[in-house]
Amino acid sequence: MLFDFAEIPARECYKLLVSTVTPRPIAWVVSLDASGRVNAAPFSFFNAFSGDPPVVGVGIGSHKPPLPKDSRANIRDTGEFVVNLVSEDVAKAMNITAIEFEPGMNELEQAGLTTLPSVHVRPPRIAESPVAMECELMQIVDLGPNNGLVLGRVVAMHVRDDAVIDAAKHYIDTPKLKLIGRMHGSGWYARTSDLFEMPRIPLEKWQDKSAKSAGVLRKDR
Ligand SMILES: Cc1cc2nc3c(=O)[nH]c(=O)nc-3n(C[C@H](O)[C@H](O)[C@H](O)COP(=O)(O)O)c2cc1C
Repeated sequence: MLFDFAEIPARECYKLLVSTVTPRPIAWVVSLDASGRVNAAPFSFFNAFSGDPPVVGVGIGSHKPPLPKDSRANIRDTGEFVVNLVSEDVAKAMNITAIEFEPGMNELEQAGLTTLPSVHVRPPRIAESPVAMECELMQIVDLGPNNGLVLGRVVAMHVRDDAVIDAAKHYIDTPKLKLIGRMHGSGWYARTSDLFEMPRIPLEKWQDKSAKSAGVLRKDR
C-alpha cells in the first residue's frame, strides 16, 4: 500500500516511521540547564553516525512548538550532554524519566536513580546505566519548528566493568549489556537477546564461489 507523505498529516507520518524503523536504540540524555540543574529524558530518534570523528545524533522535539524540549534547550545553551544507554534492568526507571515534568524537575531523583561525575563534561552520567557517552555539541540541525537533530561528538565512553572483555583491545561483551530498543506504538520495546551471526563476505571469496558455480553450470550443459 502506498502512503504518500505529501497527502497525510505529520502525526500520521510519525506513526508510519516509528512503526517501521525498528528497533531504535534509546539515548537517555542527561543535560544541565543554565543554572546547573540536572535534566534527564529518553530519545529513540537516536543512532551513531560516524566513527571518525565519533558522532552520535539525537532527534529532539518541542513541547509546544517552537518551544524546544528541555534537553534540546539545555544542550543548545550549554554545549554538553551525556548519552546513557538503556538496559532491561533500568527500563522502568527510564520510562519514569520520560514523564513531561515541568522544567527544573530532577527526573533522575523521581526515578530513584543516582549519578556519577563525568570526566570531560559537566553533566553527570547515570550510575545504573551500563554505557555512558560524554558528548560535546557539534551542531543542531534545524528540522523546522517541531524538531532539531542534535549532533554530538563523543569525547569519552564509560562501560560497566563486567561487560568489558579486553580493555586493551576495546572488546565489549555486547549481549551482556542487555540493551533494549524501542519498537512501534508508545509502549513497545525489544530485547537484544535474539541474535544470529552472518559474517561479511570478502570479495575474493564471492568471486571464487561465482567462478565455481559458473563452472558447474557449464559442465551441466
Ligand atoms: C522510549 C522513549 C523514547 C522517546 N523518544 C523521543 C524522541 O526520539 N524524540 C522526542 O522528542 N521525544 C521522545 N520521547 C519523549 C521524551 O522523552 C519526553 O517528551 C520527555 O519528557 C522530554 O524531556 P525534556 O523536556 O526534559 O527534554 C521518548 C519517550 C520515550 C519513553
